[in-house]
Amino acid sequence: MTNTNGRSTPRPVDPLFLDRWSPRAYSGEAIDADDLMTILDAAHWAPSASNNQPWRFVYGVKGTAAFDSLRSILVPGNQRWAKEAGALVFVISQTETEVTAEHAARPIPTHSFDAGAAWMALALQAQLLGYHAHGMAGLDYDKARELLSVPEGFKVEMALALGKPGRVEDLPEDLQAREKPSHRKPLETLAFEGKLGG
Ligand SMILES: Cc1cc2nc3c(=O)[nH]c(=O)nc-3n(C[C@H](O)[C@H](O)[C@H](O)COP(=O)(O)O)c2cc1C
Repeated sequence: MTNTNGRSTPRPVDPLFLDRWSPRAYSGEAIDADDLMTILDAAHWAPSASNNQPWRFVYGVKGTAAFDSLRSILVPGNQRWAKEAGALVFVISQTETEVTAEHAARPIPTHSFDAGAAWMALALQAQLLGYHAHGMAGLDYDKARELLSVPEGFKVEMALALGKPGRVEDLPEDLQAREKPSHRKPLETLAFEGKLGG
């Protein structure tokens, strides 16, 4: 049984997994540069098919032109709270291997899956350092390709806000009401022995 962060599960899952969540209240302070690199370092230790490491990260620290540029890519609903994050990070994946003298480019079918593993490693390392990471698919993907100079062979996957917790009272009222850790479907409806159940 694990009971933490307003969440509970009947099995002895490490609290780290239930403590990680996606708040919108951030303190507005710029992230420490070493902490940011530690968090990205953890992300790049994620496993990937053939150790392709297809993830790429583009970041901007609060108070810089890079932060403002990355923020402008988010949908307005995300911009309004993510502006108080300490950094914004975009996760990009490489969809095919590089051309070498020996090999033509080959697709990396698991590029998004591998980038997802990196995002989770990032989120957990952030949690361990006292930060929160909040993923965002609410963004203008065409604008992201343009502003981040993303070439062919790469896909913009998601953005994330990274920062120290802030005061819920400082959020707009509608967001204050949503500032609660969410729950999960019962494991029995998601995990099956032998074949996929309905
Ligand atoms: C790929 C991805 C995209 C997401 N996009 C958004 C988003 O655009 N805006 C937002 O507020 N939350 C977004 N979220 C946060 C999810 O809603 C959140 O992770 C989910 O409700 C589970 O809650 P928890 O992370 O607090 O456990 C996203 C999360 C992921 C992983």
